[in-house]
Amino acid sequence: MGRETSTVESKEWFMAAYAPQGVPTSDHLKLRTLTLSLGDDHIPDGHLAVEILWISVDPYLRVKMTGRKDGLDMPPFQLDQESQKAGSNVFISAAAGGVGMVAGQLAKLKGCRVIGSAGSDDKIKLLKEEFGYDDAFNYNKETDFDAALSKYFPEGIDLYLDNVGGSMLEAVLNHVNNHARIPLCGMISQYNKDCTKRDGIRNLFNMIGKEVRMEGFMIGSHLMNHFPDFVNEMEGYLSQDKMHFKHKIFNGIDRFLEGFASMFSSSNIGKVIIQLK
Ligand SMILES: NC(=O)c1ccc[n+]([C@@H]2O[C@H](COP(=O)([O-])OP(=O)(O)OC[C@H]3O[C@@H](n4cnc5c(N)ncnc54)[C@H](OP(=O)(O)O)[C@@H]3O)[C@@H](O)[C@H]2O)c1
Repeated sequence: MGRETSTVESKEWFMAAYAPQGVPTSDHLKLRTLTLSLGDDHIPDGHLAVEILWISVDPYLRVKMTGRKDGLDMPPFQLDQESQKAGSNVFISAAAGGVGMVAGQLAKLKGCRVIGSAGSDDKIKLLKEEFGYDDAFNYNKETDFDAALSKYFPEGIDLYLDNVGGSMLEAVLNHVNNHARIPLCGMISQYNKDCTKRDGIRNLFNMIGKEVRMEGFMIGSHLMNHFPDFVNEMEGYLSQDKMHFKHKIFNGIDRFLEGFASMFSSSNIGKVIIQLK
């Protein structure tokens, strides 16, 4: 093998200080440029150098920035197949995001009635007009989540895909049907709070009489068994134009902080991605 001596500049964000609460800023994350040698002598045996072209920006990264070991660690999501009986009343929060847009469309394809919540009127329009949701509401405009859920779920909720936690989860528990399922995907409303000041859910009691099942899951635990089937199913939907996507693309690694913060301000639409080249 010949002796390569070329070098490349590589930019990386590093944590200068943990951010126990609030949206992380340039006080916590800083960008630096490193020079990497691609010479044979610099890449150990059994290793290879890769050029990254796209980066997925995901909410779970927030949990890595607190300085504590927390309960969330991996990134997209497949709605549990057994939960989606045709005709079920399905509610999805953060419905216009990376997870929500796919989960809602899958539930529609299974014949469910699907309602979503999101934080801007543009997202509500998107949910109804492009992602096929039966209805959707802007939670930032609702002063009373209980009243909103009464309006959108006159027959109660059979499945709630929780992406936000907090007061929305608490309100949902007042509207669940017997044997409702609540897969806990994420709780983004809590990520920027000091871990000792996160919201409690006061009405878990409602789960008992209605035999509700609430269960956390990590996508990484299901990839091995379900990913090939999921890929097959999605390929079918894509080839039939039954699945639509939106991406919010930020150009350049320098814009990571901006992309990351967009997920906490309702200003992103769809999956947030950084394009590096
Ligand atoms: N368990 C797993 O394996 C797994 C895997 C991937 C993702 N997740 C979780 O799934 C959720 C969605 O992830 P994603 O990648 O698809 O992100 P995303 O939905 O594309 O972006 C996050 C969205 O959350 C909403 N949001 C932000 N702050 C909020 C608040 N205080 N209250 C209510 N909504 C708020 C914003 O939309 P609005 O306009 O609606 O406010 C934002 O667009 C996150 O909780 C994430 O941690 C879990």
